Amino acid sequence: MRRKLAAGNWKMNGLSTDLAELDRLITRHAAPAVDLLLCPPATLLAAASARLGNHPLLIGGQDCHAAASGAHTGDISASMLADAGARAVILGHSERRQDHEETDQMVRAKARAAHAAGLTTVICLGESLDEREAANTLDIIGGQLSASVPDNSTGENLVIAYEPIWAIGSGLTPTLDQIGEVHDFIRTRLERRFGAGVGRSARLLYGGSVKPENAAEIFTISNVDGALVGGASLTADDFSAIITALEASTT
Ligand code: PGA
Repeated sequence: MRRKLAAGNWKMNGLSTDLAELDRLITRHAAPAVDLLLCPPATLLAAASARLGNHPLLIGGQDCHAAASGAHTGDISASMLADAGARAVILGHSERRQDHEETDQMVRAKARAAHAAGLTTVICLGESLDEREAANTLDIIGGQLSASVPDNSTGENLVIAYEPIWAIGSGLTPTLDQIGEVHDFIRTRLERRFGAGVGRSARLLYGGSVKPENAAEIFTISNVDGALVGGASLTADDFSAIITALEASTT
């Protein structure tokens, strides 16, 4: 059985005072029935990790460089994330693909580096509205999946987040059938490429305007193992409601 995962992506939000939200979250979910991951900006990784004590919540980065070290001003390597307390990293988010022209090949190289540093990778895939309206969604997702995910992935270090670009931060979400279709497709592709072991253990998250109001119904979809949450992860109140909905879906 795959353990469900609620992941929060703070994006470029959060100063040290905002770690009070993390304190609230771990107090409220002292013994979570699902895995929790919070990805604050890199500036807060060490401070966030230091506040956890023995709490099982994992801290993660939002990106890393493909190289282990070197002359890359402003960049952060996977081992630096790990050194700051990160256990995971989000890679290939559509905002990185758009703002920094990241390609599938770059995402794959970063994922390889992250795995080498012992990090779990949350690799993001998603179609644009034009691609969906042209009925190209599965082709786009299939292409991103084969090119972005490295061969050395395991059931433990690979998490895929399906995030339709048009649903991110927009308040729009696909229908439950649309989400289910893409998640089933990703599962089948992973099983075909990696075999049943890895293919069935890798967790598949849905992301894009997940809120306390829609989380429970999204979590009824088979092959949705949790969520990657942006805006609603910024406050403990909203993220906690989503975590509670995910916990309820496991019973
Ligand atoms: P959102 O972002 O929940 O604010 O739509 C999701 C994401 O980009 O990971």
